[in-house]
Amino acid sequence: MNSVIEVASLRKSFKGRDGTSRAVLKDLDLAVGAGEFLCILGPSGCGKSTLLNVLAGLDKAYEGRACVSGGRVGYLFQEPRLLPWLTADGNLDFALASCRVPTSRWSELKSRYLAMTGLSEYRDYYPHQISGGMAQRLALVRALCVEPGILLMDEPFSGLDEITARRIRSDLLSIWEETRKTIVFVTHSAYEACFLADRILVMSGGAFRQEMRVPIARPRSYDDLAIFEFSRDVIKAFGDGIGREPVPSVIPVTEPSLVDDLDRHIAARMNI
Ligand SMILES: Nc1ncnc2c1ncn2[C@@H]1O[C@H](COP(=O)(O)OP(=O)(O)O)[C@@H](O)[C@H]1O
Ligand SMILES: [Mg+2]
Repeated sequence: MNSVIEVASLRKSFKGRDGTSRAVLKDLDLAVGAGEFLCILGPSGCGKSTLLNVLAGLDKAYEGRACVSGGRVGYLFQEPRLLPWLTADGNLDFALASCRVPTSRWSELKSRYLAMTGLSEYRDYYPHQISGGMAQRLALVRALCVEPGILLMDEPFSGLDEITARRIRSDLLSIWEETRKTIVFVTHSAYEACFLADRILVMSGGAFRQEMRVPIARPRSYDDLAIFEFSRDVIKAFGDGIGREPVPSVIPVTEPSLVDDLDRHIAARMNI
């Protein structure tokens, strides 16, 4: 495998307010192949964003090795981070200029990715004039426009409503299938990881606990039962991985009397 990301014995600590040092990334080893779609799945606070910041070159205070090759790195955050005083088009121009993409290519790149994400009609809109889902799609266009070889995505759809999020996830998969960029996608949603990834790394407490290949053929459909079933296995691994009891596949109803009471209450209200 031709790896474009290679991490070896990566360690990182943060100083707490009392001055003591706390390990946040603990001896991570990671290799990501060119064109691979990797999801890192883990609970809040386990070190996912810290790892992405190191990979993006935003954080250089670490020990060990973190080598990223294979072109420009694009970064998509949880929130769109658009410039409010610029239109959609202006935001894209700003990114293209910052990355020194030749102006002769701007029009073609913008049109291509705006069309892919269904935003062609909104070029003249300001960020406050478009919905949250559209703003996040625009942030995705901004990341893609500068033609990164590697895309780092930090829970980019977790702030969106489920209907919008599933539409954008499908858009992202279509774009990835067309462009085959290397993607490292951080999430705390097992279902999202199973829908998107070739491979899932389960992370907790600053370490990788489990690695799973997603055995589901592409192209994938969001409602495929196989994704649901595999996500159940991943959730079990996730439970084991973070040292708790595995999550049961069927959650037992522990208080049937409450449910009965509710049924009776509803029946009484409906006069039945
Ligand atoms: N700049 C910082 N200073 C001190 N502690 C930090 C800093 N950034 C993150 N941390 C701590 O590192 C841990 C991992 O954070 P983070 O990587 O943001 O987790 P995740 O993205 O998985 O939710 C958390 O306990 C967090 O409080
Ligand atoms: Mg985070």
